[in-house]
Amino acid sequence: KRTILVTGSAGGIGGAAAAQLRADGLHVVGLDLREAEVTANLADPAERDGLVDRILVASGGSLDAVIACAGVASADTSAMVAVNYFGTVALLDALRPILARSNAPRAVVVTSSATILPISPPLVAACLAGDETQARELASMEPGLVYASTKRALSRWVRRTSAHHEWADAGVLLNGVAPGTVRTAMTAPLLSSAEGRSLLAEATPIATADYASPEDIAPLLAFLASPQCRYLVGQVLFADGGKDVIRRGDDI
Ligand code: NAI
Repeated sequence: KRTILVTGSAGGIGGAAAAQLRADGLHVVGLDLREAEVTANLADPAERDGLVDRILVASGGSLDAVIACAGVASADTSAMVAVNYFGTVALLDALRPILARSNAPRAVVVTSSATILPISPPLVAACLAGDETQARELASMEPGLVYASTKRALSRWVRRTSAHHEWADAGVLLNGVAPGTVRTAMTAPLLSSAEGRSLLAEATPIATADYASPEDIAPLLAFLASPQCRYLVGQVLFADGGKDVIRRGDDI
């Protein structure tokens, strides 16, 4: 039976992914701030140390895949930097050697379609350079660009890292998913106001039907975490109702 770690398992997209995998008969280890097999705060660098051991205790000693969903969009710019980028990357880096022992190891990162929105280049650079202190400082200066910047950095990290020999050569296939607007606790405040809805509507010109539900994203995450995903490396798949097509057009 495959064992999958899902971060952000108590929330919308991670919760739906965990539920689907459990329904499919897989062993899911959830990690979240609460209501999870492993309760941990990925924003806290001190808590990140020792997390692998705690995860292995909960998983029974092995891990076949990780689906990294935990993330925040809030007024707390430090938290966005710490969870969306550093917590996610630190955990995946630490778990890679464990994953490599599986016969079909997979890692899936949830970025965002916001990855293609305007960013702060210095903040993205600080993230990719691994400088969390500087990244937190830069983030406080341009709060409006922080969410997209953390997700851009994460998407780039996926592309840069996936081809490293420790990942692709070792059979650990790393890919990302960039959802558009999904109805979860994260987006509820925005979707409940006309102003917030118009902000999102402007950013997703083709998504006229409705926003996605977490269950629309979960099957894609489950596939990327499965042995059936055999020929994808470093892709960031936009599940966004067409936002990426409209914005980037021919740029492929
Ligand atoms: P959510 O708020 O429903 O769930 C996020 C989960 O992550 C929560 O259970 C929360 O407790 C957990 N989490 C937050 N901070 C944490 C920390 N420091 N340590 C451990 N766990 C922590 O949000 P949602 O919408 O399900 O988001 C999941 C992922 O999808 C996030 O990375 C988000 O940025 C991304 N995303 C969401 C979109 C949306 O429209 N909802 C669109 C694109 C990306």
